[in-house]
Amino acid sequence: MRRPLVAGNWKMYKSAAEAGTLARAIASLLSRDCETVEVVLCPPFTSLQAVREALAGSPIALGAQNMHWESEGAFTGEISPQMILTTGCSYIILGHSERRQYFAETDEQVNRKLKAALRAGLSPIVCVGETLEQREAGQIETVVLGQVRAALQGVSEPELLKMALAYEPVWAIGTGRTATPAQAEEVHGLIRSSLRQHYGEGVAGALRIQYGGSVKPENAAELFTQQNIDGGLIGGAALKADSFAAIVRAAC
Ligand code: PGA
Repeated sequence: MRRPLVAGNWKMYKSAAEAGTLARAIASLLSRDCETVEVVLCPPFTSLQAVREALAGSPIALGAQNMHWESEGAFTGEISPQMILTTGCSYIILGHSERRQYFAETDEQVNRKLKAALRAGLSPIVCVGETLEQREAGQIETVVLGQVRAALQGVSEPELLKMALAYEPVWAIGTGRTATPAQAEEVHGLIRSSLRQHYGEGVAGALRIQYGGSVKPENAAELFTQQNIDGGLIGGAALKADSFAAIVRAAC
């Protein structure tokens, strides 16, 4: 049985003070139930410390949204895996479509970041997903499985068990247009079959694949009960304590 993983991707929202308040509210709403679900909050870098303090004593984990693959160096504006670890993060989101789209992040860079994150002892969440154009051109499988293969290149099987994938169709992110549970499940199934083909049942059966893209309290339960969907990566609905808590409960 795979333990569902529900992560809040706060993107570039919330000051440190606001982030602390939101994290405290989420921790208090989730203090009694849902041990079956692993919950992670991923605020902006500048709020990691505040959220870490707010989550003290709570089982909710902390994650960051991006990193460089080098440990240190002349890379203005970048943050290394080791620096992220010192903020108390155990998770790291990599290859989000906004990074790929607006910051030209390539599959090769995602692969380097993934290997560096694993070396540092972080648990990466690697995002993949097709654009609307690619979907309409019948390229879902080529694009998504291509991204998965490229990201995982050279990663060992034991390391694969420390990471998760997030299938996030680009057309569903922040648009209010969610993939139907059947549309999402179809792609999750393709990803899992591809993992089975390349790494065998051990990895395919254990690796969690989250769904992301306009998940809300109203559609979360139906998405999360699909056979190959193991929780979600939540953007907009993660910025309000009650809606995020309701989504986490839907995965319990
Ligand atoms: P959304 O974002 O829930 O606002 O669609 C999801 C994500 O980008 O991870």
